[in-house]
Amino acid sequence: MKDFELNLKTKIYFGKNKVKGISEEIKKYGKKIMLVYGGGSIKKYGIFDEVDNELSSGEIDYIEFGGISPNPRLKEVREGIKVAKENDIDFILAVGGGSVIDASKAIACGIYAKNDVWDYFTGEKEIEKAIPLGVVLTIAATGSEMNINAVITNQKDKQKLAIHSEKVLPKFAVLDPSYTESVPKYHTAAGIADIMAHIFEQYFSPDREAVVSDRMAESLLRVCIEEGPIAYRNGSNYIARANIMWASTLALNGLLSLGKRTDWASHKLAHELSAHYDLAHGATLSIIFPAWMKYVLDENTEWKFVQFGKNVWDLSGSDKIAEKSIEKLEELFHEIGLPTRMREVGIEDDNLEEMAENIKEVYGEIGALKKLDYEDLLNIYKLAF
Ligand code: NZQ
Ligand code: ZN
Repeated sequence: MKDFELNLKTKIYFGKNKVKGISEEIKKYGKKIMLVYGGGSIKKYGIFDEVDNELSSGEIDYIEFGGISPNPRLKEVREGIKVAKENDIDFILAVGGGSVIDASKAIACGIYAKNDVWDYFTGEKEIEKAIPLGVVLTIAATGSEMNINAVITNQKDKQKLAIHSEKVLPKFAVLDPSYTESVPKYHTAAGIADIMAHIFEQYFSPDREAVVSDRMAESLLRVCIEEGPIAYRNGSNYIARANIMWASTLALNGLLSLGKRTDWASHKLAHELSAHYDLAHGATLSIIFPAWMKYVLDENTEWKFVQFGKNVWDLSGSDKIAEKSIEKLEELFHEIGLPTRMREVGIEDDNLEEMAENIKEVYGEIGALKKLDYEDLLNIYKLAF
């Protein structure tokens, strides 16, 4: 098992009405707050009112910055930086999902960018500072509420790139599962696929010794398989929503990757897909993952898929367990209404080469379970088509 360090610094407030009291938490970090949100779901479903009541009773001085798109855009981040600077903002409260949180993280560090915030995403500049941020989570999916990542789309250059910096780790996150009861079926399903994909990226590693991480990953996958369809069918089932919400945070807060190498090829393939076609992130993953699995399955990797089949899907016997485990995954994605092929969402096959080339250009060879070069990437896209 590889050596590691762990410091889970984000304070979690989990449960109903946990937004009450965050004013005290915010006061530890800032005086002039920017409340960042998305397309308006928080206003439609009453979440904004609860946050506003809490901030008003705590005498917190705040401005609103709304309109962050799903798959947040660079131009929205740049606008947020401008507004934050003009208003001397010293703390950001992100109220929303991964898109809102990621945009908030980018604004938080972008305030200090000497040239342009995009330099952090291309790797040209390193993030040195960021103003602190907190989160009120409204959809279970990305784990952004307790991690160091942010993903932003540059529409002009058709690039979707990420930063990974401790400087943007949220100080606290409110996880009230009742807030997720209004999430529409499609985004509930996309969230479940994303959670599972995060677990896969860390589970499908070439390293065999990190048994603790592997068994935790399998347990979380089983939670997604058991509770996910319940949350999908009955959005107001609090127990299912609660379990999925906590699974989403645990899936990408650093715990599952301890002691091992991780893969992340599928996310790169999926991000490229969403840079070209503005699909929900989870839907790009339900398309890419089964294809990736089929492509990387060979005599060297079969052991891992057999483990997956036995420990996650309860498959037994010795015949084609690896292949069956992938079939089971596709069945689950279909059960919750997700696509598993590009064609199902109307994508044509005329961009596959360009997408594979772009990944090659930005990252070079990718993947850990199996190293993937241009031809491999193209083959996976063709399988996913
Ligand atoms: O914009 P609003 O009106 O808020 O509506 C959103 C949006 O349309 C809606 N929604 C959210 N909470 C709701 C709700 N609707 C009703 N009731 C609620 N309570 O759901 C839609 C999707 O929201 P979004 O924030 O885009 O979803 P998600 O959390 O899946 O975030 C996706 C983004 O995160 C990135 C993805 O690439 C994508 O850009 N990721 C971030 C990661 C990270 N920071 O670690 C890792 C992931 O792999 C991923 O790349
Ligand atoms: Zn993801």
